[in-house]
Amino acid sequence: MHPLLNIAVRAARRAGDIILRAANQRDTLTIDTKQRNDFVTETDRQAEEEIIQIIHKAYPDHAILGEEGGQIGDHEITWIIDPLDGTTNFIHGLPHYAVSIGIQIRGRLEHGVIHDPGRGEIYTATRGSGAFLNDRRIRVSSARGLENSLIGTGLPFRDFTHADAYYGMLQAIASKTAGIRRAGSAALDLAYVASGRLDGYWELGLKPWDIAAGIVLLQEAGGIIGGLAGEPSGFMESGNLVCGNPRMFAALVREIQPHLNEALTSPTRQ
Ligand code: IPD
Ligand code: CA
Ligand code: CA
Repeated sequence: MHPLLNIAVRAARRAGDIILRAANQRDTLTIDTKQRNDFVTETDRQAEEEIIQIIHKAYPDHAILGEEGGQIGDHEITWIIDPLDGTTNFIHGLPHYAVSIGIQIRGRLEHGVIHDPGRGEIYTATRGSGAFLNDRRIRVSSARGLENSLIGTGLPFRDFTHADAYYGMLQAIASKTAGIRRAGSAALDLAYVASGRLDGYWELGLKPWDIAAGIVLLQEAGGIIGGLAGEPSGFMESGNLVCGNPRMFAALVREIQPHLNEALTSPTRQ
């Protein structure tokens, strides 16, 4: 395993331990609201601090982009961290959440770890070396089209600017597939597409820490990820993305396209 990935796995495991311990004492949890429907618990903060400590012990100069602490330092290597993806699930005792750590080198995502502590699942990938679930190699599903497929998504819940466009997409896709899942962790949605549990996924308004690790994982598992019109770049900036195996990616883009407007395909966050 690449030394950078090795540290990322160690950090993700430690954060996972903190999260599991806190999940067993949920009645004592302190919850703050960052904005409407945007919650943070002391567990998110503790997990992020632990991750940063482990990274900085090994690589004191590396830069960090953490959901809770923001940008720290300036270096050609940036660790992009979501210490607890799926906080709303966590707060409700719904055991579906993960730690996500992506490593970007000179602007390019090179390594990713997504750790689901409750299930004991660690997804890892390094560019050019494949994607793994624990020690097993994973690949995207071989679904040939929308028929019988299972697709992940995220419903608007904080910002409703593009809700009408989104529900148009949802209706089009739901009517042609076997089902849609809104599980509440973008990182695990991407990991599930990478491992073939979901055939595809799309969501609007995501942040770099939700998706950094998942992008490497998905691509190394043979998947395609892009913006809502199928464009190959700009989705990290806009936070609007679609993914799946190459056929599924094209099929989803076809359904999404009629509901797009200029703001949704612009590479700047709207
Ligand atoms: C959220 C989850 C959710 C997605 C939201 C994210 P958080 O992350 O990934 O699935 O729909 O957009 O903000 O706040 O739990 O880290
Ligand atoms: Ca998140
Ligand atoms: Ca989070």
